[in-house]
Amino acid sequence: MFIRMGSIEELEKLCQEESLSKNHYTIDKIKKENQEIWVIMNDKKQELIGQLYIIWNLEDKDKANGKNRAYLCSFKILEKYRRHGFGNLLMERVLQRIKDKGFTEATIEVDKNLDIFIHIYKKMGFDVYLKTYKEFQKPSILLLNSLEY
Ligand SMILES: CC(C)(COP(=O)(O)OP(=O)(O)OC[C@H]1O[C@@H](n2cnc3c(N)ncnc32)[C@H](O)[C@@H]1OP(=O)(O)O)[C@@H](O)C(=O)NCCC(=O)NCCS
Repeated sequence: MFIRMGSIEELEKLCQEESLSKNHYTIDKIKKENQEIWVIMNDKKQELIGQLYIIWNLEDKDKANGKNRAYLCSFKILEKYRRHGFGNLLMERVLQRIKDKGFTEATIEVDKNLDIFIHIYKKMGFDVYLKTYKEFQKPSILLLNSLEY
């Protein structure tokens, strides 16, 4: 198993994996160096295990401000690989990447009603509630991880 930053070419390839999301908007953002996709791979089978995206700057500065706060999204581990610790490993690596860039905070958004994910993210260090977004069909909350150095 190994974890690394994915390329645009790989992103195109990932598009064929129906359970992992990506789009041209994402590719544009990567080209502008505002987003990175990180992947965890099974080196024996050369197969994708999961993904997590970092966005460095967004219009919504509560999420990411390009200076010290980055936003994480599209966190997914393929179903057959879940509950084996891969999510924790990928999250740890990506948080390290954010620190290495000199950022001190990370945010993640979760459906307000998905208590289980709120619990999982809390264990991963996202233990500060920032705000609730009510404008969408499914309200969501924004959680903050004050990265430890
Ligand atoms: C969230 C997700 C990425 C976690 O990946 P994972 O590889 O299964 O996570 P891990 O095995 O590393 O587990 C991380 C922690 O969460 C806990 N956990 C994971 N899934 C859980 C579940 N369904 N119920 C309870 N606890 C769970 C683990 O016990 C572990 O806790 P620990 O650190 O105390 O040991 C994965 O469940 C997923 O892809 N879900 C679908 C996509 C999704 O809905 N993403 C979130 C949108 S808000």
